[in-house]
Amino acid sequence: MSVKMLVTGGAGFIGLNFVRWTLENRPEYEITVLDKLTYAANGGAINGLKNFKKISFIKGDICDPNVVFDAVENTEIVVHFAAESHNDNSLHDPMPFVYTNIVGTANILEAVRKFDKRLHHISTDEVYGDLAIDSSDKFTPETRYNPSSPYSSTKAGSDLLVKAWIRSFGIKATLSNCSNNYGAYQHIEKFIPRQITNILCGIKPKLYGNGAQVRDWIHVDDHNSAVHAILDKGKIGELYLIGANGECDNKTIVETILELSGLPKDQYEFVSDRPGHDQRYAIDSTKLRQELGWEPKYTDIREGLAQTIKWYEDNAYFWKSEKQFVEAKYAKSGQ
Ligand code: NAD
Ligand code: TYD
Repeated sequence: MSVKMLVTGGAGFIGLNFVRWTLENRPEYEITVLDKLTYAANGGAINGLKNFKKISFIKGDICDPNVVFDAVENTEIVVHFAAESHNDNSLHDPMPFVYTNIVGTANILEAVRKFDKRLHHISTDEVYGDLAIDSSDKFTPETRYNPSSPYSSTKAGSDLLVKAWIRSFGIKATLSNCSNNYGAYQHIEKFIPRQITNILCGIKPKLYGNGAQVRDWIHVDDHNSAVHAILDKGKIGELYLIGANGECDNKTIVETILELSGLPKDQYEFVSDRPGHDQRYAIDSTKLRQELGWEPKYTDIREGLAQTIKWYEDNAYFWKSEKQFVEAKYAKSGQ
């Protein structure tokens, strides 16, 4: 018997990879994707999954309670990826972040409360703010929330709503906060695909500020295998941090991409810094590993980057038509 799973934001970068992986590896799930198809979505890729019998699609906005209630009533599990997800956009136009990330999540919560469904809420390590570059501190599930940007503060708001609905109403929910993902189908506004596609277009990679900021990189398939571990074995009411010990500074990432692309390592340029730029993120994923036995598969960032470069080379259809527009937008803010 199939288990019905509703995946919000399943046409975006991580959600789409989650849907594909689940259809390929977990035939017990019958998936419905609920997605508004914003600029960040890949409606075409969802269409391409239609040869799997167990997928259906609803184009809809999680800010609309009628859409959300109908979709949640007809499922057993909700995996909630849908969000506005890019920090730079949130600095130019924060309100879509408030609506989708906070109001949208509140609608999901009210629907799972009414129909008594299982929820897994996807979030980010950015809710914790940043760490000092020269420290060895890491985020743990006990770290105090201290978000910096409209993106991270609205994600923090959504997490707090989930925690409140768990405590006040006893909904059957878990949360996970993951570090920076990379892999196929990531929008080219984000750091790694922006630099890969810059190089493919003969544009120099762009580093914000001094390029010393550190992110804790994880391959998108490792994020998603952790989400499945939580769905399978996670304890209701708990929050899990997902990370693969992938700390690396931005300059080293750009140098590695240049090298893997057969170019000199210094062919990048520094551009205007992001206002309020978080300096360092690092995850302690001990709880996930010890309690649920999860381990990442992609532990070599160089190998993961080489695979990702190849994907963008082979799938120019995915990004080519948008490249000029994305770069023009960045150029306006000197980035
Ligand atoms: P993305 O921007 O690539 O995709 C978001 C998807 O949500 C898109 O398909 C979009 O159409 C959809 N969406 C947006 N607003 C919607 C709305 N109002 N109603 C319905 N659908 C809507 O984002 P992503 O990088 O795949 O991130 C997915 C989730 O993972 C987010 O919750 C994000 O906070 C979290 N996360 C991302 C990262 C990362 O490195 N990208 C790391 C940790 C956590
Ligand atoms: P990003 O992919 O936007 O993710 P996040 O802000 O969620 O960490 O950026 C990753 C890092 O790369 C961040 O420190 C900002 C930096 N960055 C650049 O240096 N150049 C760029 O062109 C972009 C988009 C980001």
